[in-house]
Amino acid sequence: MVSFILCLLPALLATTSAQTIAPATLTCNTCFGLTETCDTAVGTCQDNKATGGCLSVAEDITLDGTRTPFFYKQCLSSYKSDIKIPISFTVGNGKYFRINITQCNDTDNCNSAVLGVPKENATVNGLQCPTCFAQNFSVCNTQTIPCTGDETYCMDFTGYLVKDSGISAFVGKGCATASTRDIKPETTLISAVYRYVFLWGNSVPADKIPTIPPPTSTTPANTTIPPPTSTNPANTIKTPPTSTNPETTRSGASPALGKFSFTLYLPGLTGLLLVKLLS
Ligand SMILES: *[C@@H]1O[C@H](CO)[C@@H](O)[C@H](O)[C@H]1NC(C)=O
Ligand SMILES: *[C@@H]1O[C@H](CO)[C@@H](O)[C@H](O)[C@H]1NC(C)=O
Ligand SMILES: *[C@@H]1O[C@H](CO)[C@@H](O)[C@H](O)[C@H]1NC(C)=O
Ligand SMILES: *[C@@H]1O[C@H](CO)[C@@H](O)[C@H](O)[C@H]1NC(C)=O
Ligand SMILES: *[C@@H]1O[C@H](CO)[C@@H](O)[C@H](O)[C@H]1NC(C)=O
Repeated sequence: MVSFILCLLPALLATTSAQTIAPATLTCNTCFGLTETCDTAVGTCQDNKATGGCLSVAEDITLDGTRTPFFYKQCLSSYKSDIKIPISFTVGNGKYFRINITQCNDTDNCNSAVLGVPKENATVNGLQCPTCFAQNFSVCNTQTIPCTGDETYCMDFTGYLVKDSGISAFVGKGCATASTRDIKPETTLISAVYRYVFLWGNSVPADKIPTIPPPTSTTPANTTIPPPTSTNPANTIKTPPTSTNPETTRSGASPALGKFSFTLYLPGLTGLLLVKLLS
């Protein structure tokens, strides 16, 4: 399709005809809501079929201490099918991040199905990870906890989150699904309330819980998280990509939906993606 259009382009430009060939469009469902019924702003959107896709997201996030289940469907200007789902990680003290995502581009309204939010599976799986989460600190004090369900990896990450009231750096560690290995540096996960930008992350298979517990280890181990110098959160906070400012996203034609989007992006493409998402 792309090469076809590219071949055609010189011919089109050569003519003085006012005729333009509209790109083939892909129609997707749109909605958002606090429950799976996703019953607010129900409608459709159109995307360029050659490059776009349809998106559906179900999420349940408690990282900031408040529980925010959220569901939304949207057009996706840049289709990527490489993300593994669902993604979940648990950082202790009842704080977790769970998200399920569908991206498709094969048929109109391919995002119409009801998407389930990943549920907790509280069954311990014999593995353990150091866990912690802190905002506006470059280190956090870890506490090793047993992992549950399919969270068989230990994740270690830094980044920042953006919401209406400002930007906060975060650091965290926790039990995580294997799919978190796909959270590459500069991944942005945009949820209902926050935009999470992961600057650095690493996921490794979790250790088994030792059968003989270590003697009286009441002092938490010293852990410092050394973020790569090029992605120092402090530096990054001062220069968030201006084109992805939430203020900007809210000025879209669909104000309510504008905030709620999910993108995995390459540096430099962000603006394009978000602008397209809002158009
Ligand atoms: C869907 O996206 C893939 C990857 O970008 C592309 O190769 C494929 O042609 C697209 N499918 C349709 C039906 O547009
Ligand atoms: C996540 O979505 C997929 C469909 O894309 C679905 O098959 C799966 O059951 C969902 N996972 C959960 C935990 O709800
Ligand atoms: C919950 O997690 C345990 C441990 O990994 C696993 O054995 C069990 O099958 C899971 N249950 C469900 C319903 O996924
Ligand atoms: C982190 O610091 C920023 C900038 O000072 C501030 O806006 C934000 O509210 C702080 N967040 C938390 C959770 O303390
Ligand atoms: C923690 O770090 C401090 C200063 O670097 C050091 O004196 C102390 O022994 C460390 N404690 C543990 C448990 O590693």
